[in-house]
Amino acid sequence: MSKTYQFANNFWWGAASSATQSEGAAFEDGKGLNIFDYWYQIEPDKFHNQVPATDASTFYKNYKSDIQLMKDINLNSFRTSISWARLIPGGRGEVNPKAVDFYNNVIDELIAQGIEPFFNLYHFDMPIEMQDIGGWENLEVVEAYVTYAKTCFELFGDRVKYWFTHNEPIVPVEAGYMYQFHYPNIVDFKRAIQVAYYSQLASSMAVAAYRELQLDGKIGIILNLTPSYPRDESNTTDVKAAHICDLFFNRSFLDPSVKGEFPEELMTILKEHDHLPVYTEEELAVIKNNTVDILGVNYYQPRRVKAREAAIAADEAFAPEWFFDNYEMPGRRMNPYRGWEIYPRGIYDIAKNVQENYGNIEWYISENGMGVEHEERFIGEDGIVQDDYRIEFIQEHLEWLHQAIEEGANCKGYHLWTFIDNWSWANAYKNRYGFYRLDLATQKRTIKKSGLWMKEVAKLNRFDG
Ligand code: NOJ
Repeated sequence: MSKTYQFANNFWWGAASSATQSEGAAFEDGKGLNIFDYWYQIEPDKFHNQVPATDASTFYKNYKSDIQLMKDINLNSFRTSISWARLIPGGRGEVNPKAVDFYNNVIDELIAQGIEPFFNLYHFDMPIEMQDIGGWENLEVVEAYVTYAKTCFELFGDRVKYWFTHNEPIVPVEAGYMYQFHYPNIVDFKRAIQVAYYSQLASSMAVAAYRELQLDGKIGIILNLTPSYPRDESNTTDVKAAHICDLFFNRSFLDPSVKGEFPEELMTILKEHDHLPVYTEEELAVIKNNTVDILGVNYYQPRRVKAREAAIAADEAFAPEWFFDNYEMPGRRMNPYRGWEIYPRGIYDIAKNVQENYGNIEWYISENGMGVEHEERFIGEDGIVQDDYRIEFIQEHLEWLHQAIEEGANCKGYHLWTFIDNWSWANAYKNRYGFYRLDLATQKRTIKKSGLWMKEVAKLNRFDG
């Protein structure tokens, strides 16, 4: 029997992207280089098909017509970021007036079209000069970031009411210092911990800077929350490994951001293994006193955790990647076009966790979506990508979200990753995610079937499941 899933009239229906992934114009109008621009120059092979960020989807030039495309499918919010290297080339010093004009124009155009700007600050794109002096391992960079944050609040905070300090701050930790997906391409767990700690400190300091300005708006952080499920609920080592994954990958930012404190258990484990970062009591007080108003949640897939027996037996030096395997659980449902698990119920589990353990803070889905390789194979005779798989994906996630909201979860919006297929770091255009297809050769945007579906959902605030 079909059921109608009705959402609140003021629910945010949006799409998400980020500056570096959509703007292009990487070397234009005074923009400085970030770590991805630089990495491409020295190691282009690290990027899928050797496609650089310069080839991102030209939002810098075409923001007006792109915003019209958002309007065409009735979106009422758009989540993106402000490029630090564009606004303040080099990371500190002079503000780039062309960047100020650009972001002012984007904000004004969004508002004129009735689309709420949700703006994030740091989205993996460290100015190279800041990385050269140690990136998030250096307190000077934390201070430069806070100046950049404050500059953004002062310039744009009269119109932008929803701010976020970082997108997925655990990713630069993992990708840059553990698994080698991002520059600086290092494997060093102790340094990774310092990067994580100073990223959190930077976030809390930006929250403090925002509060001082007494602007009319809210500030939060965007976290990729990955529910960690043990392979076997009755196996105590799997349960323990899943718990450690949760502490490290989720609660390392969730707890200090929302509750003002790192989980004690995490600190104890780090201490036992001599992995505590350099910190001061004053910094911990800043974190304690500057918790967020709102939370953005990116959800793609959960973690299935299997303990590494040998590591546990030997009580090896603690590091999550030595402690657990991502377990390919038999029977789990996979995205056949990209290889990630599809588990819509994960969104409900996150919602319950936030509701029960994090004061039911106001939150939004800031990313959720389905990547597809070679999506051109699904282009129909009408030229439109027939992405029924994506419609099904979004719908199922929304059904679980709806149930959580009915049970009291404080979720106020949903942003699909992404609006127009965009450039995705080392993966470049390998996986397509958008409501609109991007033709790389011509830059032509064509709506997909999922975009047409969202047009109706966003108009009616409901769909039939
Ligand atoms: C999360 C990140 O925020 C975004 O930058 C990335 O492109 C998507 N996931 C897809 O992997």
